[in-house]
Amino acid sequence: MSKSMEQIVALCKRRGFIFQNSDIYGGQQGFWDFGPLGTELKRNVRNAWYNSMVTQHDEISTPAGAPSPFQMVGIETSIIMHPNVWKASGHFDLFHDFMVDCKSCKSRFRVDHIQTRVLADAATQAPVACETYIVDVENESGLSKAQQKRLDKAGNEYGKPTIEQTMSLDNYLKSTGGSASAPVAHCPACHGQLTDPREFNLMFKTTIGALAGEEGTAFLRPETAQGMFVNFKNVVDSSRVKLPFGIAQIGKSFRNEITPRNFIFRSREFEQMEMEFFCRPEESFEWYKYWRDRRYKWYADLGISKDNLILRDHAKDELSHYSVGTADVEYAYPFLEQGEYGELEGIAHRGDFDLRSHMEGKLVRQGDELVVEKDENGQPRHRGSGKDLTYFDDQTRERFVPHVIEPAAGADRATLAFICEAYTEDEQPDDKGSMQKRTVMKFHPLLAPVKAAVFPLIKKEEMLGPAADLYRELKRAGIASAYAHQGAIGRRYRQHDEIGTPFCITIDGDTVDKGTVTIRDRDTLEQDRVPVDKVVETIRTRLDNYVV
Ligand code: GAP
Repeated sequence: MSKSMEQIVALCKRRGFIFQNSDIYGGQQGFWDFGPLGTELKRNVRNAWYNSMVTQHDEISTPAGAPSPFQMVGIETSIIMHPNVWKASGHFDLFHDFMVDCKSCKSRFRVDHIQTRVLADAATQAPVACETYIVDVENESGLSKAQQKRLDKAGNEYGKPTIEQTMSLDNYLKSTGGSASAPVAHCPACHGQLTDPREFNLMFKTTIGALAGEEGTAFLRPETAQGMFVNFKNVVDSSRVKLPFGIAQIGKSFRNEITPRNFIFRSREFEQMEMEFFCRPEESFEWYKYWRDRRYKWYADLGISKDNLILRDHAKDELSHYSVGTADVEYAYPFLEQGEYGELEGIAHRGDFDLRSHMEGKLVRQGDELVVEKDENGQPRHRGSGKDLTYFDDQTRERFVPHVIEPAAGADRATLAFICEAYTEDEQPDDKGSMQKRTVMKFHPLLAPVKAAVFPLIKKEEMLGPAADLYRELKRAGIASAYAHQGAIGRRYRQHDEIGTPFCITIDGDTVDKGTVTIRDRDTLEQDRVPVDKVVETIRTRLDNYVV
């Protein structure tokens, strides 16, 4: 079944999953609010992650496929950190995109999001005409008719056979080297004049206290990871954890994305679920493979079809300067072309880069080595803390800097993938046997915002009373439940299918006479008769069977 983002976004708004932030004021681009059902869904995503990583983690036994038993602890660090954290980590200097502005329509574009189509002289290959278009945007994968016309006209005017090349704006500017005779690349939106590319740091700036100028400047964290690195020593000293062990954190991160887009896929405020796994250097590749495979499985276990999910190893030239290996878990989001996948989570082997940076200062790659970057006076460009962040292994009596494997997921991206995957349209017979279209969110029961809905079949006191009692009993048992007594029963079922409620319980004549209810399964539509005093236990057992 093909699904469109329009259908999914409309359902999210209609049923209270996700709203545009500050909607009544026209919205704030790149920021989103989660409505009542979205809040429950995202909370379930976070809980599933934290349970899998920390709460259910059994440090005594060896998890399948893992080289040795390991410990896991949680942490919650603040959004604003000492500015030197970002200098040592490299974010201050390196966490930027190149962008251009249109001088006419004031649109701002990431340089790597603008593609050029260039006509070149067939003999000399010198460019004679150039048009730009935006990549990575729905329905904007090519030139508009007006752009195509301009390109054809320019080619014809030149009067010689030409060849066509496509390349990024970045590569086009590099290849023409600012030559005055090269055709100018104009704004892809209005054909206005573009500024030269400029660096744009993605960290949001803020000011601490009343200090003016640079002294008071701080940043909203662009990732939660640094909270784990700067607390490495605190955790080791206070929790008595031994290598290998992981520190996990869920929290908000902020990036001043130039072009936030595709619903909540790329926003400016989002939530990350990150874990830093510290291990001995010689075991690090085994751990990297372990986390890479385990994180892929987590999404599959929570209902993402393997047809829509891939694990993609980064090519060598894609790797960050510190990474010796990275793999992305990617999902076939509906806003992408058939066969394309977008990032859900990255699993990176970060070596000893982070702990060393926070000891020694900002590191740069020199051949195979990472060395402290020096300024023109031979001094470290950005100093580290100078604190000892090594680990002492009291068994082997060795002291060393642990290596780190980092599975870094986005709670919003994961929620979006679960929403997209769940969205289904099918046809089911109604009470009279005629086929009716239904929209059903086939969430994994652990993720479903409402687990059970209780419906008295008709509005009669002998059914309303037991229905309300059962609803309260489910809530007391900690099972997220709803109650609805209005409208035809078929309509109530459809309303709960649309929000993904896995179990609908109906109180009917047999409840009054024999003390039984029906439990309807959202996906199979099968209805089981169960004694009313066994409902909570039955639902609990069914949910427990799904634990991931
Ligand atoms: N500590 C490593 C790190 O932050 P990343 O790949 O930049 O790595 C990790 O981010 C995850 O955070 C991504 O895989 C994605 O799920 C999520 N993420 C990153 N930028 C995002 C954005 N602008 N909007 C929503 N989610 C984002």
